[in-house]
Amino acid sequence: MKPRFVFAVMVAAFVCASLLSSSAQTSPNAVDAEGHQWWQHAVFYEIYPRSFADSNNDGIGDLKGITSKLDYLRDLGVDAVWITPCFPSPQVDFGYDVSDYENIDPMYGTLADFDTLASEAKKRNIRIILDFVVNHSSDQHKWFIDSRSSKTAEHRDWYIWRDGKGPGQPPNNWVSEFGGSAWKFDPTTNQFYYHFFYAEQPDLNWRNPAVKDAMLDVTRWWYHRGVAGFRLDAVDTLFEDPGLHDNPVVPGKNAYGDPLQERKYNTKLPEVHDVLRGLRQVADGSGAVLIGETWTKDISELRQYYGDHSDELQMPMDLMFTKLRFSAPEFRQHIAAVDVAGGWPVYVISNHDIVRSYDRYGDGQHNDQIARVMAALYLTLRGTPIMYYGEEIGMKTTPPTRKEDVKDPIGKRGWPKEKGRDGERTPMQWDRSENAGFSKATPWLPVPPTYKTHNVADELKDKNSVLEFYKRVLSLRHTSRALLDGSYIALNENDPNVLSYLRIYKDQAVLVALNMSGSTQKVDFELSHHGFSSSKALASTPKSSAHGDAVTLEPFGVFIGELSKK
Ligand code: GLC
Repeated sequence: MKPRFVFAVMVAAFVCASLLSSSAQTSPNAVDAEGHQWWQHAVFYEIYPRSFADSNNDGIGDLKGITSKLDYLRDLGVDAVWITPCFPSPQVDFGYDVSDYENIDPMYGTLADFDTLASEAKKRNIRIILDFVVNHSSDQHKWFIDSRSSKTAEHRDWYIWRDGKGPGQPPNNWVSEFGGSAWKFDPTTNQFYYHFFYAEQPDLNWRNPAVKDAMLDVTRWWYHRGVAGFRLDAVDTLFEDPGLHDNPVVPGKNAYGDPLQERKYNTKLPEVHDVLRGLRQVADGSGAVLIGETWTKDISELRQYYGDHSDELQMPMDLMFTKLRFSAPEFRQHIAAVDVAGGWPVYVISNHDIVRSYDRYGDGQHNDQIARVMAALYLTLRGTPIMYYGEEIGMKTTPPTRKEDVKDPIGKRGWPKEKGRDGERTPMQWDRSENAGFSKATPWLPVPPTYKTHNVADELKDKNSVLEFYKRVLSLRHTSRALLDGSYIALNENDPNVLSYLRIYKDQAVLVALNMSGSTQKVDFELSHHGFSSSKALASTPKSSAHGDAVTLEPFGVFIGELSKK
């Protein structure tokens, strides 16, 4: 990088930092002089409750299981857990079909167990985030049972009912995300109802103010119980065009054999933003945070979810990040674009719907090293990271190999093209005992064979494990002002192999250099010309080190170092 350019970016960083601190004093509930809120300093951790820890040995994880692992989460460096739906549900979509928004499914425990979890978490400074399934309920929810009972039922207009185009013909061509028509005929009233996902997940009608009121009340109810926020499920699909225009068909077919279509009339309608503003107003009353499952095609779409006046989601997830290839230029370009877009970035590398990053990026030979590179990357960027359980120990996606073993209905329907999401939802690997210490009974999904080499107990004893590396970086993230509050400055922007950047806060700076290639790399940063010198390694892989301004990185090596003023 040209020295003059380095100087320019440092000045820009200083100006940014000053602007940030001048607005700080005015922000209520700020946790630092920059005006950041608690969730901007927090590390979030997603728990799929069926698969985390099974306290009653029925093969399915539960809330008491989560409570028993809170010390582990605290020691790891987790500040908030997001629990995917644990509400009463027929479990057609493993909890994403909610039949009562204000209770706990008996398979996970009771409301009393939830209260214990919340209070034990609080003792350890861990906040609880629940998953709010806003787009649809279960067809077993009392609202839908009433809605389908007659055209004049009190809740009829809480869902989307329409006449077919003709006998046996749905109202339009909309296709469900999970295959087939998005309309299901109901003989009781001779109309079709709309479901973006499974037929057992009818879409709520958010154009009806009664639906909005009832759903906002659900959030109030949980805030009073101590919940610190929600991850809002499937927010892109809350509204549909009332004229029910057909979606344009585009070439190709999905895994279920349906023609592909551009979802012009049933996703991302502008009315979504009114709902998000309403949910935000309620959240603000409780100091709560809203995280969004926001599948966006570009950064300007992502930007919209923060709201024009920062009055919608505080944390729309950057799920585009999960689509990038393992390539320094690709990550560099994306991060730069997100960083200047104006919102607080939210980085995710895996979740319960996506192939785990361990094997998405792993080359089969260096997966542990690559897992460390990814950890060092998203845990040191400006923004909030959301981890996925098991990522910190290098858990591998383990999809079923036979159709008869598949549990996720989309895998049953789409086999073999779509194997479903069982592979990324396997039980947490706690130790090398039977069932990986997850349960004494046969787990609902098989434990992957990798539990013998990748499990919490063994990795805690091995200072070179993926887990120990995560712990080191997470601890830095909580203590380094540069990592918490600093600006992001890309370095060596033409390097095809090494992604490197500075995080600068006032006179503190951290250098992060990540070798995304399989060969040794030596990189010169010319930092000494500009007032910094590279010095103390804070976290690095065994054969990566700094000498003056240069850093040598082993294949897939990581160097994170504190820079001192010259
Ligand atoms: C979200 C969830 C996914 C679920 C779907 C329908 O995408 O993450 O697991 O199947 O919504 O609720």
